Amino acid sequence: MTELKKNFAVIGNPIHHSLSPQIHRAFAKETGLHIEYEAILSPLDEFKNTIHQLIAQKLSGANVTLPFKKEAFQLATSHSSHARIAEAVNTLEFKDDQIIGHNTDGIGLVRDLEQNLDTHLKNKKILLIGAGGAAEGVIYSMLEKKPSELTLTNRTIEKSNVIQNKMDVHAKSFDVNLKVTEIAKCSHQYFDVIINATSASLSNAELHMDPKVFHEGCLAYDMMYGKETSYIREAKSQGSKTSDGLGMLVEQAAEAFFIWHHIKPQTKSVIESLKAF
Ligand code: ATR
Repeated sequence: MTELKKNFAVIGNPIHHSLSPQIHRAFAKETGLHIEYEAILSPLDEFKNTIHQLIAQKLSGANVTLPFKKEAFQLATSHSSHARIAEAVNTLEFKDDQIIGHNTDGIGLVRDLEQNLDTHLKNKKILLIGAGGAAEGVIYSMLEKKPSELTLTNRTIEKSNVIQNKMDVHAKSFDVNLKVTEIAKCSHQYFDVIINATSASLSNAELHMDPKVFHEGCLAYDMMYGKETSYIREAKSQGSKTSDGLGMLVEQAAEAFFIWHHIKPQTKSVIESLKAF
């Protein structure tokens, strides 16, 4: 008897640039699974209908990308702890009548840092730039790794304060000093890892960070990928190690793949092949 192919998709707007189909098909090939994985454009005001249509078409799961991660959280009937804390969902499982929401972004970032870039977060001092969905989606996973300090900064500092208030209970439970510092004052402090979670690079905008925040011993990470950002150029010019977010993209996909199929795919060869792409 031939095995029924399970269907998956990534949903966003825009979506044509998404690498998720390529990544999931590569994982499926490597693990010997037979799946379909498509990119689906949802109209901006039609996300809920799009999901219900996909469920009617017997999709088994979906990844969700910008700008629908908050809506996916609202739509899910139950949530993983990471999704509940981030109040955002990037992976949906459709099981019986349930829509289970997960968030694998934070796990993806931490795995890329620790496993691929050999940058362990325990007892380190981390600076997280940005206070939008991208930043909020990864904070809990970083706290879990017990850095000594996690400093939040953002152009609009009030938004960092809101996140600090929300996450402080978790920071305390992991014994992490969760602080907020104005962007102009970050260079007065020492950081081992500096993560750009803003969307500034999307519009080729400058972050207006004092370059003195970077130094030879630190890793400057940009969640963006696909082109060298001015943030990465600046960090390199100060002698820092740097990385874009391609590894995070592949690792968050690997965790989604594990949730759906209970198999952990190899990620390194996929990251390498996408770098060469
Ligand atoms: P995402 O879900 O990608 O995080 P978002 O919620 O719109 O998107 O958040 C974008 C983040 O990038 C915010 O932290 C934003 O700063 P503000 O809160 O001050 O708007 C930040 N950002 C975007 N463009 C920026 C720029 N040119 N300089 C500095 N920060 C910028």
